Order: sequence, then C-alpha cells, then structure tokens
Amino acid sequence: MVAVSRRAAATAGAPARVALVTGASRGIGRAIALRLARDGATVAVHYGRGEAEAVATVAAIAESGGSAFAVKADLGEAEGPERLAEAFGRILRDRFGTAGFDILVNNAGIGRRARIDAVSRAEFDRILTVNLKAPFFLTQILLPHLRDGGRIINLSSMGTRAAYPEMAAYAPAKAGLEALTRLLAVDLGGRGITVNAVLPGATATDMNAGARDPEISREIARTIALGRVGQPEDIASVVGFLASPDGAWVTGQSIDASGGQRL
Ligand SMILES: NC(=O)c1ccc[n+]([C@@H]2O[C@H](COP(=O)([O-])OP(=O)(O)OC[C@H]3O[C@@H](n4cnc5c(N)ncnc54)[C@H](OP(=O)(O)O)[C@@H]3O)[C@@H](O)[C@H]2O)c1
Repeated sequence: MVAVSRRAAATAGAPARVALVTGASRGIGRAIALRLARDGATVAVHYGRGEAEAVATVAAIAESGGSAFAVKADLGEAEGPERLAEAFGRILRDRFGTAGFDILVNNAGIGRRARIDAVSRAEFDRILTVNLKAPFFLTQILLPHLRDGGRIINLSSMGTRAAYPEMAAYAPAKAGLEALTRLLAVDLGGRGITVNAVLPGATATDMNAGARDPEISREIARTIALGRVGQPEDIASVVGFLASPDGAWVTGQSIDASGGQRL
C-alpha cells in the first residue's frame, strides 16, 4: 500500500533531503516523522500493520505543508528488510528519479516484559528479529543508496544502561543495536555519515501503556530526575537534532533521552 501526500505527488524534482523512518505509524516513530518533515525532509512513513495510522501520519504531514509517503513491510518476516528497501527505492525512483536518500531512522520495535525464565525461544527470536536483525539488514541493503554526509539513527532504550530484569530479551537486543551503532560510525565516518543511538526512557506510547496511565506514570516519574514520563515529541527532538546540520559532529554515541531516569 502506498499513500502519497499532495505535495509529494506534486513535487517534480528531487527533494532537498529524504528520510526513511521505520515504525512511523504510531508513537515515537510518528513524532519523528512529523519532526523531520517539519525540518524540511520528505519522509517515508514505514508501517507494518497500521495502514490507517500510517495514512493519518502522512496526512498530518501534508496538512502542515510537508511531504511524505507511506510504505509497508513486516519487519518480523525474514524478507521484511528487502521488501521495505524495494518498495522505498521504487517510490523514490518513480517520483524523484533517484534512489538516493539522506536519513535512516531504525525506530520500529517490539517489547514484552518478561524475565529470563518466561522467554520462549520463539519469543526471543521474534524480539531479536524486529529489534536487531531488521535494522542490521535494512541498513546493509540501503547503505549503497545513503548519500555521503547522511545520518543513521537507531532507537535503543535506557534499559541497556540500567538493569531491568523484565527486559531479559529486549535489552540484549537493544545493546546489540548500540554495538552496531558504534562500529558503523567508524566504518562510515569516511563518507561523512554519522551513526548514533537514541535511548528513550519511559515514553507514553502503545508500547508503554503504563506511562500513559496517570497513577502508574506518577510512580515511574519518581525514578526520573525531571519528574515526568517522556512524550514522543521529547524523543523526536533529539532525533531532529542528530539529523540536522547541527548534529554533524556527533557520531558513535548512545544518547540517553529519558529525562534522567534511574541515574
Ligand atoms: N515507549 C517507550 O517507553 C520506549 C522506551 C525505550 C525505547 N523505546 C523504543 O522506541 C521505539 C518506538 O517505540 P514506541 O513506544 O513508539 O512503540 P509503539 O508505539 O508500539 O510503535 C511501534 C512501531 O513499530 C512498528 N512495528 C512493530 N513491529 C513491527 C513489525 N513486525 N514490522 C513492521 N513494523 C513494526 C509499528 O508499526 P505497525 O503498528 O504499523 O505494525 C509501530 O509503528 C522502539 O524501538 C522501542 O523499542 C520505546
């Protein structure tokens, strides 16, 4: 399924910057897509199951004068990264005559709270596939098309910094993503491509229903220096900075965006 905003459809030449945000139908990814569009990028709004939500994200970007299109792929499937890259590249070639792009945000993720004794092999594989394998292979496939001076931003979690036993499969997957972030920063530095990880703390989204519940979020806020849970826009601001020209001298970093949770 492909939805294209009015401005994208009307754009004849190549846009100034193109961004792909995975998992942009909801939550943090949606806020990142809106932010990057506000900053002038044409944004590919990737989604898995949330077609209506992705179309709504594209519409919200169009309403504020930005440019976006939606692109579908299930990143829990082995061929998901290939399908996403293929659909993304096809739209770019058809509309702009180039498959080149500038910003890759690996945001799509899944989380389930479970201690080590409650994680099945199938569940471990699923969490590793979406949270680590998909960003790895999507990056591998898209690297030839990422322009020199580009940006890769990976969404990790502050659960790699503080120990949460109930993140038994999730936190190791995110730690792997951070290791990949650092080595890619070295590998791609010669091309002027920066690679960073952003580590949200408790952020009010579908993934973290507790952070949306007034009572539970008050409890969580006691562990946060700034005294409240995060909103998707708090995380999008950090991603916006890293994606901007002002972020050009920051690479290989894992940047906490938790309001100071569990310091
Ligand atoms: N919320 C928090 O407290 C928190 C804290 C630390 C880190 N994070 C990280 O921040 C990122 C965004 O989290 P969020 O809270 O915004 O999550 P969310 O509200 O649950 O949204 C998850 C997004 O990922 C996409 N996605 C999930 N599984 C997918 C699959 N198999 N194939 C394709 N897309 C898939 C979803 O797309 P569809 O709905 O279209 O399938 C959705 O757009 C994640 O990497 C998460 O680990 C979140």
